[in-house]
Amino acid sequence: MEEPLMTCRPTKLSLSLFLLLCFLPLFSGAGFHPSPVASAGDRFIQEKCNTTEFPHLCVASLSTFAPAIGDSMTMMAHAALNVSLKSARSTSAMIAGLSASSGDRMSPRVAGAVRDCVENLADSVDSLRLSLMEMGSLQGRSIWMKIDDIQTWVSAALTEENTCVEGFDDDGVDGSPVKAAVSAQVLSVAQLTSNALALINDLSPVP
Ligand SMILES: *[C@@H]1O[C@H](CO)[C@@H](O)[C@H](O)[C@H]1NC(C)=O
Ligand SMILES: *[C@@H]1O[C@H](CO)[C@@H](O)[C@H](O)[C@H]1NC(C)=O
Repeated sequence: MEEPLMTCRPTKLSLSLFLLLCFLPLFSGAGFHPSPVASAGDRFIQEKCNTTEFPHLCVASLSTFAPAIGDSMTMMAHAALNVSLKSARSTSAMIAGLSASSGDRMSPRVAGAVRDCVENLADSVDSLRLSLMEMGSLQGRSIWMKIDDIQTWVSAALTEENTCVEGFDDDGVDGSPVKAAVSAQVLSVAQLTSNALALINDLSPVP
């Protein structure tokens, strides 16, 4: 009887689970649609996104920022981090809401995985915030040290996101619609973060 959860009818669901399943995709990876026309800025984005692990998502999530990015690798990495933080924040808030409102209706193992995930995502948001603060002051003599810090924080954020997904990798939570919804959302956050990290790594000088 999990069918109703997948049909997006609010009457059958708690409100936050309904929002998570039916609306959150609009704010994260699943909601991006690439524009069919390619400007010069779009071509720069396509070329640089080519080196990321999820190039289609990379282009789709960044093409709105083409005017701001121009042909600046730094602006592109900055925009990708912005997108990753925004998506981590909205997913984090949604899953925290789900845990608070519906946690006691989940099996103990699912509820536990959701609670751990709320912590993972809070840590991930913190790390992404730190890296964005540093990204905003990328100049001067210590620029490569700053990039090094940013790489460290963004990979820490990615680790937290992957840890959340792995927390649902357990026979005890198989078949749970909460598992399906939460892991899909967090996977899409992790893909955005992975892309941001690849673009930041592109800023580094070749050793
Ligand atoms: C992306 O990479 C593929 C091969 O890896 C290449 O054929 C394609 O031309 C590249 N696209 C851009 C926009 O650089
Ligand atoms: C990133 O976000 C900050 C704060 O919202 C904004 O000021 C900045 O212009 C954004 N940068 C890019 C490249 O999108």
